[in-house]
Amino acid sequence: MARETDAAGSSGGAGSGASAQEFYGQWATVYDLIARYTPGVPALRRRVAAASRLEPGDTVVELGCGTGANLPYLRKAVGPEGTVVGIDFTGPVLRRAREHADRFDNVHVVRADATRPPLGGDPPTGGGDDAVARDDVDAIVATFVVGMLEDPAGVVDDWCDLVGPGGRVVLANAARSDRWYAPAANAVFRAIVVCSTPPTTRFRYEEDLTARLDAKIAAGHDRLRARSGAVFEERRHFGLVRLTGGVVSAADGAWDRSADEGR
Ligand SMILES: C[S@@+](CC[C@H](N)C(=O)[O-])C[C@H]1O[C@@H](n2cnc3c(N)ncnc32)[C@H](O)[C@@H]1O
Repeated sequence: MARETDAAGSSGGAGSGASAQEFYGQWATVYDLIARYTPGVPALRRRVAAASRLEPGDTVVELGCGTGANLPYLRKAVGPEGTVVGIDFTGPVLRRAREHADRFDNVHVVRADATRPPLGGDPPTGGGDDAVARDDVDAIVATFVVGMLEDPAGVVDDWCDLVGPGGRVVLANAARSDRWYAPAANAVFRAIVVCSTPPTTRFRYEEDLTARLDAKIAAGHDRLRARSGAVFEERRHFGLVRLTGGVVSAADGAWDRSADEGR
């Protein structure tokens, strides 16, 4: 049976992410339906699993797994002998994820901060028979999460360090399209962003939310490209969804953080 553990209680991520947790907690059921059944989204999730280059027996960690819509695809890729861990800091969405994952022994959901995943033998994934050590992680997946992070490049950097050389990191995120029909696609996209960015009750004409989101997505995906020896890239859904998969390079080890401004 899938196990749900909780490491988010003392998480620093809940501070800046408090409104995100409230929002996703409130809309967990609706979000689950959108995440699973929106036309084209199941195909995207299959592509994300394929880009992770998983082999039977591998261990894959999904960060910001939400209601767990990717988990069945990841589980299929690693097979019954592999391990799938979904991490999210929002309790109600994780409960949905657990309901969906419950039939699998090797799919675990953990309540924790994706910017500080509790891997490496620390509780809650350590100490039990479902322990996942940092060294065992073959791939990290994060879909529609990077735009919610304060420092996407820094966090992606940490994820690359976590899987190490040869490990895979796969990101999928929505940002503005640059296709010829971009004005129409981007108008719809902007409406979705405004409606789904917590707090949704406030009018926010004073800032361009989509530009801010674009910058975060670009920062996260750019850093993954910079850290990877082999890169797989795809645009989907009218050019609005970017999928980047990277095999982390051994070159020079970890990223030189002194090169980052503002870190
Ligand atoms: C847009 S949803 C995407 C869910 C899922 N990845 C999917 O593709 O359907 C974003 C999810 O990221 C989670 N999230 C955002 N920041 C997080 C953080 N720092 N730690 C853990 N979860 C986070 C939210 O709780 C939410 O469930």
